[in-house]
Amino acid sequence: MLPSSPSWATIMHSLALLAPLTAAQSISLSIQPKRAGAAVSDNLSPSFAGFGIEPSNLFSFTGNDNPNNFTIQLLQNLADYSGAPPHIRLGGNTQDYMLYNESYTKFGWEKNPSSIGKGAIASDSMIIGPGFFKAIDRFPEGTWVTYGLNLAYDGSDAGDLRVKMAQAAVDNLKNTQLYSFEIGNEPDLWLQNGFRTGAWDGKAYTAAFLDAADDIYKQVLKPAGLPAMFFEPPATASTIGNTFEITQLTNNGLLGERDGNYYVGWWNQHDYFQFIGVTTEPITLDNLMNLDSTNVQFQYWEKQIKIALSTGVPYVLREMSSVGPIGMHMVSDTFGAALWTLNFFLYTATLNVTSVQMHMTDNSNASAWQPTDHYGEPAHVRPQYYAHAAVHQIIGNGNGTTQIGALDIGKVSSDYTGRIRAYSAYANGNIQSAVLINSKPGTSGSYTFNLNFGAENANKKIYLSYLTADSHTALSGTTWNGISFDDKTGKASIVDDSLSVQTLDGSGQVGIQVRDSQALVANLDWQLGSNEVIKQDGSATAGSRRKNSSASTTSTSTMAMLIGAVSMIFICFA
Ligand SMILES: *[C@@H]1O[C@H](CO)[C@@H](O)[C@H](O)[C@H]1NC(C)=O
Ligand SMILES: *[C@@H]1O[C@H](CO)[C@@H](O)[C@H](O)[C@H]1NC(C)=O
Ligand SMILES: *[C@@H]1O[C@H](CO)[C@@H](O)[C@H](O)[C@H]1NC(C)=O
Ligand SMILES: *[C@@H]1O[C@H](CO)[C@@H](O)[C@H](O)[C@H]1NC(C)=O
Ligand SMILES: *[C@@H]1O[C@H](CO)[C@@H](O)[C@H](O)[C@H]1NC(C)=O
Ligand SMILES: *[C@@H]1O[C@H](CO)[C@@H](O)[C@H](O)[C@H]1NC(C)=O
Repeated sequence: MLPSSPSWATIMHSLALLAPLTAAQSISLSIQPKRAGAAVSDNLSPSFAGFGIEPSNLFSFTGNDNPNNFTIQLLQNLADYSGAPPHIRLGGNTQDYMLYNESYTKFGWEKNPSSIGKGAIASDSMIIGPGFFKAIDRFPEGTWVTYGLNLAYDGSDAGDLRVKMAQAAVDNLKNTQLYSFEIGNEPDLWLQNGFRTGAWDGKAYTAAFLDAADDIYKQVLKPAGLPAMFFEPPATASTIGNTFEITQLTNNGLLGERDGNYYVGWWNQHDYFQFIGVTTEPITLDNLMNLDSTNVQFQYWEKQIKIALSTGVPYVLREMSSVGPIGMHMVSDTFGAALWTLNFFLYTATLNVTSVQMHMTDNSNASAWQPTDHYGEPAHVRPQYYAHAAVHQIIGNGNGTTQIGALDIGKVSSDYTGRIRAYSAYANGNIQSAVLINSKPGTSGSYTFNLNFGAENANKKIYLSYLTADSHTALSGTTWNGISFDDKTGKASIVDDSLSVQTLDGSGQVGIQVRDSQALVANLDWQLGSNEVIKQDGSATAGSRRKNSSASTTSTSTMAMLIGAVSMIFICFA
């Protein structure tokens, strides 16, 4: 049957609408109004978008004798936005260099004077003490912490020392909450880095992991009333072509019981989009901003995630970054990397990755902020942090019910290939927002997303929150949702309180233009961040976009803005 021909009036109307946009490229996307009709992620945890901190660098991030209030404020902002602080992993290569000695009470670590461990860098070369856990405990209240224990050291006292370290973590984390233990970092690399010689493979690792988990459970966790399923293996760098694949480890019995206990709570793997010295193609900002490249790089991990979830155990990506090991200037520290980060979090959410940790060291140009002086520059916020802020607000906007779906953009014209992404975000089972990303380098063009939210959303208002900067190469000047974060204090301030509002037409459609090198969240009915966010304990944070970090709650201008936001919501529902 032929479609009925549209009336002239409709055609003229459409032409009028389309005329100004003909120069720009566009795509039309239909969004399922109800979650039930869409392929979406599980509910996202408010701690989903997290950070990994290299243990040797902990004190740069949270301070030595004096706390690093800049770091703490930056994490608190995110907690205020989503309802809980980002999940922190204390882990990395240096977890396998550390032993615990309770008589070392300083903030910091010291070189082990009597190191005997194996390895290119010895597996017992660093001593930490209670100050290490005091420094972790400076993270915002309630921060979930995954703590990486040393499995590399294999001296005769290794088991006892590991139990001591685990006990110290359980005893000393009070303001923060211990979430899980890793046992050993990237065991797939241990023949290369000299931690092991001879027969070392996924099978040997499985046995070593289960022995260690069994000791720690019986001696530390059980007496503390903590569960057995507290561990996250295998924390591998890559399992391509080796014996550490999830299926192989499962066949080796990693998920099996030991003395009636099951120890694996999560599958934990690591990845980097590109890694200096490993990636063979040139590492460029242009390629980072080609979001198809991320799909290609992550294809194998996607398969691992599917296999992991099919074992009934959740999957966490505890070490990730745009460029490893410590970033690349003019690539990972640019605004383009912020667009990559936003996309990566949403993409992995749709794969049902439970949590992602972006890895940080104090000297990494891929860290979301530089925590202290380095490279002749003072501490500062990098553009990437603004993507974390965006994801935390997207999650907080649903009060624990946010679910993300990928909108199928199909094939776009060649000059936008790899540059266009769109996601849907649901709250309480209903469509709440669309996230639109245009990662084409440059700022001269724009791309139009014609969105159809369905007739039930007809005539609603939609509020746009921008992730933007002057250009994709900008190192500073990024804003998210009109907010800027201070390089000294980490505090948020509203630098642009104007609202960008469009109205859906009578059938629930709207055309939204996104500049090249820009992203935005289009949220139905209210400005993102203007509502309170319910915390996990049932209390609420004050919302975010309408409030500077330090703004006193009763300033008249704040009240006026809040009242403005509230009455706009009433108008929309009226
Ligand atoms: C993610 O989890 C949700 C909720 O359990 C499920 O409906 C969806 O199919 C899952 N998606 C993937 C890609 O596993
Ligand atoms: C950091 O914050 C603590 C606790 O609020 C405060 O006591 C201390 O003075 C602050 N330090 C600096 C350098 O501002
Ligand atoms: C811990 O440190 C103290 C003081 O440096 C030292 O005497 C002791 O031998 C150390 N303990 C271990 C187990 O290395
Ligand atoms: C990181 O960026 C700074 C400039 O901000 C540069 O001086 C430094 O060399 C870069 N470091 C690395 C390891 O790329
Ligand atoms: C989240 O909770 C706050 C505070 O109760 C409320 O104002 C807001 O409407 C809720 N958001 C959603 C999407 O339910
Ligand atoms: C928020 O901070 C900005 C920039 O520092 C300032 O102009 C504005 O007045 C502040 N707003 C409130 C409500 O304190």
